[in-house]
Amino acid sequence: MSRKKRILSGMRPTGKLHLGHLVGALENWVQLQSEYENYHLIADYHALTTNLDSSGIYENSIDMLIDWLSAGIDPTASPMFRQSQIKEHTELHLLLSMLITSARLERNPTLKDQIRDLEMENVSYGHLGYPVLQAADILLYKGDLVPVGEDQLPHIEITRELARRFNLQYASAQPIFPEPEGKISRFARLPGLDGKRMSKSVGNTILLSDSPETIKTKMRTAVTDPQKVRRGDPGRPEVCLVYTYHQKYSPADVESIGRDCRSGALGCVDCKMKVVKQIADSLAPMHEKRSYYEQHPAEVKEILHDGEKRAKEVAHQTMHEVHEAMKIG
Ligand code: TRP
Repeated sequence: MSRKKRILSGMRPTGKLHLGHLVGALENWVQLQSEYENYHLIADYHALTTNLDSSGIYENSIDMLIDWLSAGIDPTASPMFRQSQIKEHTELHLLLSMLITSARLERNPTLKDQIRDLEMENVSYGHLGYPVLQAADILLYKGDLVPVGEDQLPHIEITRELARRFNLQYASAQPIFPEPEGKISRFARLPGLDGKRMSKSVGNTILLSDSPETIKTKMRTAVTDPQKVRRGDPGRPEVCLVYTYHQKYSPADVESIGRDCRSGALGCVDCKMKVVKQIADSLAPMHEKRSYYEQHPAEVKEILHDGEKRAKEVAHQTMHEVHEAMKIG
């Protein structure tokens, strides 16, 4: 019997999510829900690679889980779980770590991007092995498809290499791991209010939980075409951040907005207020759900525990196959 294809998706628990997460990932997850069997992983161990302070990880995980639920992930269909609670992740991570060289990991462009000016000598062993843990996350659930941002594609490539190496070494008669595909979302990246990548550490985000008032205040700081100083000046939508937001949030009006910007009929303040309304309206149903879950913390915990129970069954079964293939355990 052929099973539904499986998706394994994951995020590091950075706390409340922003529009970049929604547009670049979460909307995609929600959309793929019916077609695939979905597993959603909270990468709480991965959070330690860049910040050793673990005191906020639990709270951040819960905040992120509430955003997932509010965005429409159905907990009855799709288990949501913390990596740290399923010990099979650490075991498979260890076994896979024997199948890749440290030189291969040092060449990982995503790592190079993350560490920038740091010398490789100062990178922890765990951080270097980040993609191996991610590969374990994916392979434990035999994920066929992994929805990710572009920066994560090198990790998917490493996962494919590890799946191949494992199968070849230990399970050539009957491969255990499928080689997963990475899937980039259609609207891959929504820039932050300063035009750069939307990121919590930069402080240029709109959070999914922001009130319309907060969105308005933040939007006032958004960069527009620097050549359009006052209302009558003709603007260039193609260089305007607010226009990018309209492309996403005002699909029906985007043409007239572009025209009125170019002619000077539409000023930047009015244009910003239009997009604030569109964004706030689109987030309103999520706010309703968030406030429900905030008032029912026991239900949120139960969702997490249930997800962890279901994920554990799959992880356990996969490790059983791994043990048999390797003739250990
Ligand atoms: N590395 C991913 C990120 O930083 C998070 C992640 C961890 C992940 N494990 C995963 C993503 C497994 C997809 C699948 O965004």
